[in-house]
Amino acid sequence: MKKDDLPVILNALVEPVFLVNSSRQITLANAAAEELFGEELAGEDFVHAIRHPDALKCVVAALEGQATSEAIMSLPVPVRATYKISSVRLERGDGAEAEAVVSLNDISHVLEAEQMRSDFVANVSHELRSPLTALSGGIETLKGAAKNDAEARERFLDIMGREAARMNRLIGDLLSLSRVEVNEHVRPSGRVDVLAVVEKVVDTLETRSVAGKKPIRLQSTPGNWEVPGDTDELTQVFQNLIDNALKYSRENTEVEVSLSRSGKLAGLSGPALKVEVKDQGEGIPAEHIPRLTERFYRVDDSRSREKGGTGLGLAIVKHILNRHRGRLLIESEKGKGSTFTACLPLDLPAQNDPLS
Ligand SMILES: Nc1ncnc2c1ncn2[C@@H]1O[C@H](COP(=O)(O)OP(=O)(O)OP(=O)(O)O)[C@@H](O)[C@H]1O
Ligand SMILES: [Mg+2]
Repeated sequence: MKKDDLPVILNALVEPVFLVNSSRQITLANAAAEELFGEELAGEDFVHAIRHPDALKCVVAALEGQATSEAIMSLPVPVRATYKISSVRLERGDGAEAEAVVSLNDISHVLEAEQMRSDFVANVSHELRSPLTALSGGIETLKGAAKNDAEARERFLDIMGREAARMNRLIGDLLSLSRVEVNEHVRPSGRVDVLAVVEKVVDTLETRSVAGKKPIRLQSTPGNWEVPGDTDELTQVFQNLIDNALKYSRENTEVEVSLSRSGKLAGLSGPALKVEVKDQGEGIPAEHIPRLTERFYRVDDSRSREKGGTGLGLAIVKHILNRHRGRLLIESEKGKGSTFTACLPLDLPAQNDPLS
């Protein structure tokens, strides 16, 4: 290796690296460091580049004799991020000036994933606790106050049956979600006639549609509506979208389901098949729309629970569409209704396409 290679190699590193001398002056900063913390850092005091007390402590410790020193710090600028900063004392032999190599590792995504995991566990526990509380309450009442009251017993058994069904649905949805998540990077290998799947879903929801006085109108032209996909998973997508439309719309309004083809859509690799589910419900305020596909996210918590919702439906839809390399579009106008559109590519890109 040539001597001049060193800066070239340092500049090729994606992580910011500094060399700091005994007076805390930066003697070298690689390209990644300059991109994040400003240009021409050489000659500056280290604190001018990174203004964080823990970063300084870490550097000083190495300069004062500690072989390595580490710290975690969050910086609000230039972008909000959390870094692990490591400072290693450079040993160049007797009498040489103390120097430290300081490197930064962005660990924001690791922390985010940890946070998501713990939020998820907290959410699941919370969601399971409420039906469980209702079940234990029911048992207590049946053993005590309602012991000899046939009417009250019926009522409590009804409630308990509903709550047990709710727990069952929740667990079913959680399993479904974890199954699609595991498979998300594996493309579906079958072919699906989307119109046939939608027709079947509409059939299954017929009773609910009639009971709620919300007729479902299916619109499509004859033709080939096949896409690469997994029948069971796509059934789940349309089941949830149409179920939501029925759940969150008004009596005596129509739910319109229409199939169409479109050219290339943003985020998709080619032409797509669109399934639009349009309701005339109360609509969703704009600030909620980007969060609807988060697990357990509900616009109106009590309303969704009262309707038996687990808040996992759209999270499952999103993961299934991701697996199909498709997209979910949501448009809604308060007071007028919502349109959820599932877009599915008509052809999947080749498995070895690095961009897909
Ligand atoms: N068509 C719609 N109109 C109005 N709000 C909707 C509509 N679809 C979904 N939402 C809102 O988005 C939330 C999330 O929907 P999602 O399908 O994920 O959960 P859910 O329907 O509450 O429960 P689940 O689908 O698990 O039974 C709902 O609670 C509701 O607040
Ligand atoms: Mg739903």
